[in-house]
Amino acid sequence: MVKGAPVGVFDSGIGGLTVLEEIQQLLPHESLLYVADCGHIPYGEKTPAFILERSRSVAEFFRERGAKAFVIACNTATVAAVADLRQDYPDWPLVGMEPAVKPAAAATRSGVVGVLATTGTLQSAKFAALLDRFANDVRVITQPCPGLVERIEAGELDSPATRELLQGFVAPLLGEGCDTLILGCTHYPFIKPLLRSLVPDSISLIDTGAAVARQVQRLLTSHDLLASGPAQPARFWSSGDPAAMQRVLPLLWGEAALVSGLPSAV
Ligand code: DGL
Repeated sequence: MVKGAPVGVFDSGIGGLTVLEEIQQLLPHESLLYVADCGHIPYGEKTPAFILERSRSVAEFFRERGAKAFVIACNTATVAAVADLRQDYPDWPLVGMEPAVKPAAAATRSGVVGVLATTGTLQSAKFAALLDRFANDVRVITQPCPGLVERIEAGELDSPATRELLQGFVAPLLGEGCDTLILGCTHYPFIKPLLRSLVPDSISLIDTGAAVARQVQRLLTSHDLLASGPAQPARFWSSGDPAAMQRVLPLLWGEAALVSGLPSAV
């Protein structure tokens, strides 16, 4: 692997852009490749075997493009695939992500933490292990959010339908006394302003994009792979309708960019 090679970042859709942005801010010299598996979204309701197969295909796509590292910018794909991918590619720097249970358990004052995430993440053994490890002294209430990812993919970050859906997910958590909410899906930071407007100011909202970027920095540093030269512009692929992603990119990524179709073999 060479230092100037790109870093591959992957999500089921556009949610991982929230992580891509953190990586770009922290590591502006890195060239970034982004794959949105929009043709198969949502992952939240898919089987782990299916998500593993998709993650393997995308990993191979990045390998063919010489990516020096692989970031699974998706909580749901991480629980389904990260362990197998680490075995497949033992020498390839690989970063996954998980709901921020540890910082939330440290932050809560009421002792009650709410987790908004996909069904797949919340039902996984990896998430259960995370609770075992870091949440012994707090009560954790989990809330799957079916349908929310689809609204965000459509660019509906503040529509009445998104508001109503989110309100229905958040109200029970507030009713249980949560003072800390974990955004356990990379799509959800896009609706943070909406969520903020639905909960009291005293509620902490915690997500992991910045922590993932720091982990990418640590791994690249320890492998002596940090880029120093100017970065190539980020490149984007979608397995769904590239034009649809291209339309929402200025809103979600902050600038327009070409989105290519992912080759059908991937
Ligand atoms: N963005 C993904 C995550 O972090 C999941 C979205 C989906 O259901 O596809 O979990």
